[in-house]
Amino acid sequence: MRRDLISENIHIARFTTMGVGGTVKYYAEPESIEGLSYLIKWAFDKGIPYFVLGGGSDVIFDNKDFSLLVINMGKFRNFEFEDTGVSAQAGVNLNKLIRECAIRGLSGFENLFGIPGSIGGAVSKNAGAYGVEVKDLITGARIMNLEGDIETLGRDELGLSYRESSFDGILIEASFSLSEGDPDKIQQQMKEIIKKRNLTQPRGKTSGCIFKNPEPDLSAGYLLDRAGLKGFRIGGAMFSNIHANFIVNVDNASAEDIFSLIDEGKRRVFEKFGIKLEEEVVIIK
Ligand code: EPU
Repeated sequence: MRRDLISENIHIARFTTMGVGGTVKYYAEPESIEGLSYLIKWAFDKGIPYFVLGGGSDVIFDNKDFSLLVINMGKFRNFEFEDTGVSAQAGVNLNKLIRECAIRGLSGFENLFGIPGSIGGAVSKNAGAYGVEVKDLITGARIMNLEGDIETLGRDELGLSYRESSFDGILIEASFSLSEGDPDKIQQQMKEIIKKRNLTQPRGKTSGCIFKNPEPDLSAGYLLDRAGLKGFRIGGAMFSNIHANFIVNVDNASAEDIFSLIDEGKRRVFEKFGIKLEEEVVIIK
């Protein structure tokens, strides 16, 4: 009955900020809980794995045909303020939400301004920057579990840690607790953060930091830089000249170019420092 929700053989590259990848056999943008629940059951019945896509800013697909259902949560884009809290659905753009908070004089999110992606992605990966993580602001979430039912989870049940979460299911909506602040000061802080970001991180076709920092005070970017990878290029992909933990698709890169750079980065950092870097970005191979 809802089978018309699902499109077939969709090029996935345009749904990711890195802009690479092949095709996925099934693709859907549900608009309701019922639609999402249908999709999960459909995939389960057919034995087809699914992948939930948010803003596509932290995922790199290989350049092949995947027998996969990609569920794009982009149409879940409502948000609601109540006192000093806000609830936002998974598809809400993080920066849009941060601007809405600023307008209302609600402080908390400023340091995350400029992180690309959706609320779903930001929660699932516990996005963070400049000393603030989603974990510090979130109070709970509604998720759809693997059976297609809705569950309400408290902050601690989400299992948020450095760029990770441990809940099973699809985030529908998350609630955040903010504090009252002066709108001008909040905007000012957002400007400062963007200035910092623009000086230290590249823009364009990229997917944020490729590797996790091996220790809280040891930057993977620093290690890659010291291992001589800044500006190192394979095909159309390059380790950024601005921050070595970013790979930028500078000229029609293939997924293979990017994966070769990832391997080379790991190899050189291990050779020089004896440290094994681990991907932060989600790789679908
Ligand atoms: N550094 C270099 N060369 C480089 C990059 C960094 O020498 O190419 C040095 C910097 O000069 C600085 C230190 O390394 O002394 C730390 O750099 P930075 O402040 O840029 O922080 P980071 O640890 O490299 C982390 C997060 C970023 C987040 C920034 C700001 C990770 C993997 N990265 O980067 O998050 O925006 O802090 O808080 O945790 C992301 O998660 O995708 C991401 C970009």
